[in-house]
Amino acid sequence: MTAEHTKTKLSVTGASKYYQTKTGAVHALDDVSLEVREGEFLCIIGPSGCGKTTLLWSMAGLHDLSSGRVAIDGEVITKPHPQIAMIFQDANLLPWRNLEKNIELPFELKGTKPDRARIDKLLDRVGLVGFGNKHPRELSGGMQQRASIVRSLAVDPSVLLMDEPFGALDAFTRDEMNLLIQEIWMETGKTIAFVTHSIPEAIFLADRIVVMSARPGRIASIYNVDIPRPRPVSIQTEPDFIARVMEIKTRIDNQRGQQEDHSSVA
Ligand SMILES: Nc1ncnc2c1ncn2[C@@H]1O[C@H](COP(=O)(O)OP(=O)(O)O)[C@@H](O)[C@H]1O
Ligand SMILES: [Mg+2]
Repeated sequence: MTAEHTKTKLSVTGASKYYQTKTGAVHALDDVSLEVREGEFLCIIGPSGCGKTTLLWSMAGLHDLSSGRVAIDGEVITKPHPQIAMIFQDANLLPWRNLEKNIELPFELKGTKPDRARIDKLLDRVGLVGFGNKHPRELSGGMQQRASIVRSLAVDPSVLLMDEPFGALDAFTRDEMNLLIQEIWMETGKTIAFVTHSIPEAIFLADRIVVMSARPGRIASIYNVDIPRPRPVSIQTEPDFIARVMEIKTRIDNQRGQQEDHSSVA
């Protein structure tokens, strides 16, 4: 952990969330407190349905918490914040707009002029020069997700929240995207909170990994990942890396076992 990673950028304090449904309340998050440090790459993992998306949406100010609060640089967030950008699993490009028009959308919504120089530099950075007039259906899943990364970085946010952004991609494209996001993070110093259900992906990318327990989502444990960067994809076959994967997997399996024990007693 380097000194510049000690200041808190985004904080979640005592976050609980209930969804009201026709069949009753769903308890999605239970008293989650967590700090994302400035310039840190934080990964959040946990089983499907444990509240990862709920937590990330709260961190983006996209929905209210039932209790608790989220703050950026100490300022409490109650609605989307210009310094926070969100990237979803689905690239979420509008199918009737070409790439360029999709990337310019956040500027249109803000009523400001698109920063063409910045957009062109980002398109170059992710290898999408010359694709500006293509429509999403003409692009592969990986290219669409590259475009959504450009769209979110074009407005120069300080925090990127990513919700299983590469989960729908094939393994090779996913490796490429992991390398790309590692490079972008190293170049830009953005603060990133990245949700995944892949333990290897979390270890490959993270400074710290937050492991959540099954619903209602709580923080079960936090791991430091002190592997030097840049990390090559090939690192994933090394014994030390595999040992880290096994350690986290064993802990998650044990937690699950304990939860099942409790539920059979109850
Ligand atoms: N809008 C909603 N209305 C009701 N229940 C929801 C809603 N969104 C999510 N949930 C429920 O809350 C829990 C957590 O969901 P989610 O945050 O999507 O988990 P994850 O991203 O970890 O898979 C799940 O049980 C899910 O069914
Ligand atoms: Mg989710």
